[in-house]
Amino acid sequence: MTVSRAVVALALAVGLVAVLTACSSAPPMTATSPDGSNTLRVELRDGQPYYQVEAEGDTVVAPSPLGFTLADGPPLRDGFEVLGTTRRTVDTTWAPVWGTHDSVRNHYTERTIRLKETDAPERRLDLVLRAYDDGVAFRYRWPEQQGLDALRIASEETEFRFTTDHTAWWIPDDYDNYEWVYRKTPLSAIRDSASKISYNSYLEETDGGRPETSEKDDHPGAVNPPMTLRSPDETRYLAIHEAALTDYSSMTLRADPEMPTTFHTHLVPWPDGVKVKASVPHQTPWRMIQIANRPGGLIASHLLQNLNEPSKIEDPSWIEPMTYVGIWWGMHIDKYSWGQKGVHGATTERTKRYMDFAAEHDIDGVLVEGWNPGWETWLGGDEFDFTESYPDFDLQEVVDYGEERGVALIGHHETGGDVPAYERQLDDALALYDSVGVPAIKTGYAGPIRPKGVHHHGQQMVNHYRRVVKKAAEHEIVLDVHEPVMGTGIERTWPNMMTREGVRGMEYNAWATPSPPSHDVTLPFTRMLAGPLDYTPGIFDLTPAETMPDHRVLTTLSKQLANMVILYSPVQMAADLIDNYEGEAAVEFLERVPTDWAESHVLNARIGESITIARRKADSEAWYVGTTTNATARTLDIPLDVLDDGQTYVAHVFEDTPDADYRDNPHAYRIRRGLVTAGDTIEAALARSGGQAVILEPATAEDEAQYEALE
Ligand code: NOJ
Ligand code: CA
Repeated sequence: MTVSRAVVALALAVGLVAVLTACSSAPPMTATSPDGSNTLRVELRDGQPYYQVEAEGDTVVAPSPLGFTLADGPPLRDGFEVLGTTRRTVDTTWAPVWGTHDSVRNHYTERTIRLKETDAPERRLDLVLRAYDDGVAFRYRWPEQQGLDALRIASEETEFRFTTDHTAWWIPDDYDNYEWVYRKTPLSAIRDSASKISYNSYLEETDGGRPETSEKDDHPGAVNPPMTLRSPDETRYLAIHEAALTDYSSMTLRADPEMPTTFHTHLVPWPDGVKVKASVPHQTPWRMIQIANRPGGLIASHLLQNLNEPSKIEDPSWIEPMTYVGIWWGMHIDKYSWGQKGVHGATTERTKRYMDFAAEHDIDGVLVEGWNPGWETWLGGDEFDFTESYPDFDLQEVVDYGEERGVALIGHHETGGDVPAYERQLDDALALYDSVGVPAIKTGYAGPIRPKGVHHHGQQMVNHYRRVVKKAAEHEIVLDVHEPVMGTGIERTWPNMMTREGVRGMEYNAWATPSPPSHDVTLPFTRMLAGPLDYTPGIFDLTPAETMPDHRVLTTLSKQLANMVILYSPVQMAADLIDNYEGEAAVEFLERVPTDWAESHVLNARIGESITIARRKADSEAWYVGTTTNATARTLDIPLDVLDDGQTYVAHVFEDTPDADYRDNPHAYRIRRGLVTAGDTIEAALARSGGQAVILEPATAEDEAQYEALE
């Protein structure tokens, strides 16, 4: 035998021993991430599955139970044995149709654990575990089996037993509405907070108003994910959410009455109290825990999208990111009306003016709200008509007018929550917009969902929202959904589902208590972990006292510009009246800011305090950098080492003047221009609730002659 043959024989023998060892012990029940840092581990305790999560050797979720109670059968949570497990490693790279990066690596280890009840009815349940370098996830799967062909889930029993009393950023577990200011508390304090109240109950109790806080306290405090956590020593950041929510109801997380850092899954119910109704085979969304050692790591992660299926739209060439203006803010500040009473906003003439403005300023679309009958009785009357226009609005005429100028009309379907009426009209409504040439629709569900008792975030609505996405795709129409269910990454599968609200957006500053200066500096670390956000930034007149004396926007103008970069949306609104943009130098930034990016980097990050994001424009060498702060003025350094070495860039810096201040002098901004290279640092001197927005583009010979080094 030659030496090399002997080595092979030895290797084979060792391999055989390894296989035999594996067979003789319990089947492996773990998944460890490719770089070894994160492990998801399952064990059976007296036949009940428990999972635990370890990050770099620390247990971040202690053994926590898994399982279900069913409305029509014994619980599905114990008496299990392991039939077997399988493991695979996947390492692929995919190209999103649009997004914050033009290429995404999907690298994970997956372990599937097949469970079966040892006694009758011997039902089967699979657990699928995935470990990534930036977090872990698991889902339940019901394989096709005899004796279980339908599911009526009374409760999902997944618990999250966090091992530390982290700092938590969260909103309450409202079943209908995510439009809350994020709260920052110890994780353990959620238990004792005022909690769930649904939009339905608001309307009953407050005659249509929306109270800022709720006194309802019929169970321990609870949250709507994503919830973001920071460890006491600030070395670990976690975000808990769900991915690929499909034919299931949304997950809320309720504090345990005894153990306040333990949370129970509580699914949003159907009117009859059942949480999920489905046929087998079926699967749950992924329960996902992002893990990072800096807050920017949560933002950089693509775990949510990676847990979703690849695109089902074969030829996505009709899906185009865009910026837009709209006949919108005028209604919120009471200058125009949606309906025919008052000064009607959506007239043919005004829409054409908006289209002229858009064409002149390189803005791709114009949103028109209030174009169709139904607004006179919004929130409690006749249904909206989605195929008729008001007499002073000629749909075809404005679409044609825009087309000649390269500007799209963005349509609007406000349902007021009357989903049966919308579903009745949906085919005709989409066919109309398709036939006249409307490529994008903003939908809205502002009001209690009908029939009464159906919640925005329950399974019935999850399925409705998806139905609309699929039907819109058939018509090659993209969507911006307001009052949606929280994003769970399905835009990877349905890239026409471009953006959504699901946030206390700009409109609140027009008619409610204005959002505090920390709000938009918190969203990138919380709500935005769920995907793109139609926040509608870009307000220039921050104190429109004439129309809204009691309300205003609590930022500087420069912060509004920076938010165009930071608050990512592939369909991004510049929300102010065009009259407020006319003649304003800062409009240059709105004209130029892209909505599709090749890469994105978080350069500064303190949750709720400050953030810098640098993004490179898709198919381009130009960079855009946004920096913002909360109510504290501060100076931050922006290192430019993301730029190419050896290349000179022109920097166009839009920023607060030294005397700017969100309370006393919010409109004061200046524009500095000059040459920079990768070795330079730009200083961002931010006013209270201020910002800085920078464009960096490779310098031409002319630029080099024209500009000095940036001061
Ligand atoms: C609430 C939406 O969030 C807002 O953008 C819209 O203008 C109104 N509903 C009317 O549809
Ligand atoms: Ca809304």
